[in-house]
Amino acid sequence: MTCSKIAFLVLLFSTVTIASASNFNQDFDITWGDGRAKILNNAQLLTLSLDKASGSGFQSKNEYLFGKIDMQLKLVPGNSAGTVTAYYLSSKGGAWDEIDFEFLGNLSGDPYILHTNVFSQGKGNREQQFYLWFDPTADFHTYSILWNPQRIVFSVDGTPIREFKNMESKGIPFPKNQPMRIYSSLWNADDWATRGGLVKTDWSKAPFTASYRNFNANACTVSSGISSCGSTQSNKNAWFSEELDSTSYDRLKWVQKNYMIYNYCTDIKRFPQGLPQECRMS
Ligand SMILES: *[C@@H]1O[C@H](CO)[C@@H](O)[C@H](O)[C@H]1NC(C)=O
Repeated sequence: MTCSKIAFLVLLFSTVTIASASNFNQDFDITWGDGRAKILNNAQLLTLSLDKASGSGFQSKNEYLFGKIDMQLKLVPGNSAGTVTAYYLSSKGGAWDEIDFEFLGNLSGDPYILHTNVFSQGKGNREQQFYLWFDPTADFHTYSILWNPQRIVFSVDGTPIREFKNMESKGIPFPKNQPMRIYSSLWNADDWATRGGLVKTDWSKAPFTASYRNFNANACTVSSGISSCGSTQSNKNAWFSEELDSTSYDRLKWVQKNYMIYNYCTDIKRFPQGLPQECRMS
């Protein structure tokens, strides 16, 4: 190989690397909040804020159909009671699919709740809630969604906390046909968020701010009905068939044993007619 060819390859490689580095202007649109959402630091940082008049939010430019999507969040510090930071994937329409992370704020020193849910074809009611094993307001932490045709895995700093398996063979719909956008918002939910609505937002502490950085999507984007990955069958990306190995399962069990505070699958009172079918599967 000649020197110029090598130089060209080096150039090509560095261009690709730069193009895939997190850039909020490139990947997201601020959608509401009248200036309360900001893209800063060369588009490496995004902040949302909430005050008495309004919250704020953003959404991805792309629509995704399967992927491994990471975002680092640093949540509202101090007294964040009443605030909710939502970060989720959702499709459109009446029979929509959705994969949710929601962070419910709390009084200073009291734990945030990480709320998760999965909707398929408009049906959710699959809540699982967790405390975290660190203070999510002190620093950035990585919240990830692995979404492939076999499973959805929620992870925190690389530790899986929840898996929703494809159980279509048992008649349970699984999100796999509708492209989803990424959405995030910071808003006031003091009618239910903190201790079930008992603790109200302290507006004297406003504005409340949550921060985002290091977005990374190894994903198939969909444009005009065409997937960037080509046909599903020929997808060779490792994440496309990724599953949890035994070490990951052990960690998931550890989180569920020590940090899970609500699981719809064990809420017998809520489902007097019997637990949802997928809960009786695994
Ligand atoms: C807030 O703190 C209280 C008291 O420790 C706890 O019961 C609750 O689960 C915490 N989180 C939320 C969002 O209410």
